[in-house]
Amino acid sequence: MNNVHQTETNIALNTTYKAGYRCPSNIALVKYWGKKSEGVQLPANPSISWSLGDLYANTIVEAHPRSENTAFVFTLAGEPKPSFEPKIAAFLKKIAGDCPWLEQYTLHIDSTNNFPHGTGIASSAAGFGALGLCLAHIEQLVHGAPSLDLRIEGMDFWQRSSYLSRIGSGSACRSMFDKPAVWGVSEAVSDSSDLYAVPLSQPVHPSLQGWKDVVLIVDDGEKSVSSTDGHALLEAHPYAAARFGQAQKNLGLLVQDMAEGNVNDFISIVESEALQLHAMMMTSRPYYLLMRPNTLAIIEKIWQFRESSGLPFCFTLDAGANVHLLFDGKIDETLMNFVHNTLLPYCKNGQYLCSETGKRPLSIL
Ligand code: DP6
Repeated sequence: MNNVHQTETNIALNTTYKAGYRCPSNIALVKYWGKKSEGVQLPANPSISWSLGDLYANTIVEAHPRSENTAFVFTLAGEPKPSFEPKIAAFLKKIAGDCPWLEQYTLHIDSTNNFPHGTGIASSAAGFGALGLCLAHIEQLVHGAPSLDLRIEGMDFWQRSSYLSRIGSGSACRSMFDKPAVWGVSEAVSDSSDLYAVPLSQPVHPSLQGWKDVVLIVDDGEKSVSSTDGHALLEAHPYAAARFGQAQKNLGLLVQDMAEGNVNDFISIVESEALQLHAMMMTSRPYYLLMRPNTLAIIEKIWQFRESSGLPFCFTLDAGANVHLLFDGKIDETLMNFVHNTLLPYCKNGQYLCSETGKRPLSIL
């Protein structure tokens, strides 16, 4: 495998390059909440997630030799979407030093999600994941690689895609793998890095493979605090150091539980992580209460049904009111009956989304 350092490279101009990827969203089991004060978008603690293969973004990028000093043109499902442009412009500016070839091209970016924006689902993870994959692919073509076999700045294609996606949105870097993805340095995971996510190398016990996620939509409005602003609240948070220590510890324990198949301990850590994330938001200044009454009602119902059935399932939360119900795919029928009969009345207009976990991105060209 050749290793390219960008400063040594002659890039081929006057050629148009194209790449397209479907990239899944992901759900964190141990949460990323807080960034290091130094560096660009580095996590204050390691996190681990499952990819959500049925909730994805499809993105196609064409790189044309630059005209009229235009860095990019963006469309969402073929339609201009000016409200997305500032975030993409900021992203391209941040990666300009990493990708000097970009200044020679105008990018035509078209992206579509197969799930609604702004529903508290990590749409930025799928969107920036797909964009990072397209850029890493075009970068290989620009450098004359016939396949994706160049190491760029010491990174293989998947690491480089994860690295670039991270700069767009931290959680996006975890969307690259079918195995659980770990982002952030942890003693429990060899090769783990703050710069990109890595697939968990330890085997996962069969009892924790093939789980599914039903996202119960309690609130489909815009988030009251963006995750970028939410992360910043940790900078002056009185409990930040304790939280980062907890996340480190939980990640080590969770990885061990996943290898050994300790389902009850896995459940306990995943639920505790979700509640810690919200506890941090409730105790920051300004403070936020992102759960709604129906969030709590759903959690209560999940606990009651787990107690009475003894089945393996649990909840987790993102930085919003919606509840992710995670369950072993083997109990799919029972759990979907529970969702329909008991949980849907608490969802806004009965809305929910379903996904398998553990699918990787696909090239769509
Ligand atoms: C609560 O990745 O959306 O979903 O890096 O600022 O774009 P930025 O934040 P983002 O944060 C996600 C936070 C979370 C937990 C997680 O996915 O680990």
